[in-house]
Amino acid sequence: MKSILVTGGAGFIGSHTVVSLINSGYTPIIVDDFRNANKTVVQGLKKLVEQDLLIYQVDVCDKSKMNEIFEKHVFEGVIHFAAYKAVGESVDFPLKYYHNNLNSLMVVLECMKKHAVDKLVFSSSCTVYGEPKDLKEVDEQTPKVQANSPYGNTKCISEEIIQDYHAAWPMLKAVNLRYFNPVGAHSSALIGEYPIGKPNNLLPYVTQTAIGKLEELTVFGNDYPTKDGTCIRDYIHVMDLANAHVKAISFLEKQESSCCEVINVGTGKGTSVLELITLFESKTGQKLNWSFGPRRSGDVTEIYANVSKAKKILSWEASYSIADALIHAWEWEKKINSK
Ligand code: UD1
Repeated sequence: MKSILVTGGAGFIGSHTVVSLINSGYTPIIVDDFRNANKTVVQGLKKLVEQDLLIYQVDVCDKSKMNEIFEKHVFEGVIHFAAYKAVGESVDFPLKYYHNNLNSLMVVLECMKKHAVDKLVFSSSCTVYGEPKDLKEVDEQTPKVQANSPYGNTKCISEEIIQDYHAAWPMLKAVNLRYFNPVGAHSSALIGEYPIGKPNNLLPYVTQTAIGKLEELTVFGNDYPTKDGTCIRDYIHVMDLANAHVKAISFLEKQESSCCEVINVGTGKGTSVLELITLFESKTGQKLNWSFGPRRSGDVTEIYANVSKAKKILSWEASYSIADALIHAWEWEKKINSK
């Protein structure tokens, strides 16, 4: 069985990708130092995949420890998730973000070259597009813009580092997946998003408010030039996103020569904050306590993915609806609060 190194494999997207990898016959080997992941997720993950998992509790920036791991295993490829992702925090602590997100990627690339592991799937973000000008549906040709947060900038720079390394090391086969807004949880409710502290993202804020952990959801802004005045995003079920990683690995396995691709991963549909709230209430029967507040600085008005490239080159498209994602996220929230 082919082994895939999954950095950040105990995190939200990483843990769901581990499930997809196992379902597709790969052996995931996880590196995660648990600074931003919860061991409850690992317990659920083991239960879900009905097997033990090899997990190294190591900081991906620790080059000598990472080298030891690369020496112990023959990896078919690497899926690199491990990174900080809170936009607001990155504004207050930019060096924390540059240090961690960029060094971890460079360590991964150095180890890959040293041990002749030539396939990389990298978690990038639609944040690289910034605020789309006229067309709100962005494809991979849409120019990248100056990032509006250090977090976003680490994703822009990381894509450039991979591009430059690909030019210098022509063995490298890389796919940068530009995620839109990952939401939901596995349908078993055994794994899901486990924010440490107050959540930054919309859906965990919604579910924590619905369960009573948080008092009220603030909808950031009601005067955007959209149909209902709230921002529009492309929310993608985390299991669909997880499957896109497995498709990306198998795409790389089929490449005879080196490559460096960027691919959008979204549904192609935009949903406003108010639409998401209404759908959540109708699908779960939970009344949500929310009110409008001021705009959040740095938010883009509207963005959603053109997903033609993912369909064409990965043979991938989203299969879950946003309603599925909301139900699964709610089941997970209830589960973690029932203990
Ligand atoms: C942002 C980044 C994304 C990154 C993600 C990681 C952009 C375009 N996107 O997503 O690349 O991976 O952060 O954290 O920069 N909202 C509320 N109330 C809340 C929380 C959110 O109204 O309490 C609204 C926001 O204003 C936004 C939407 O919900 O319109 C989604 O917000 P969020 O989940 O934080 O994701 P993004 O900001 O889109």
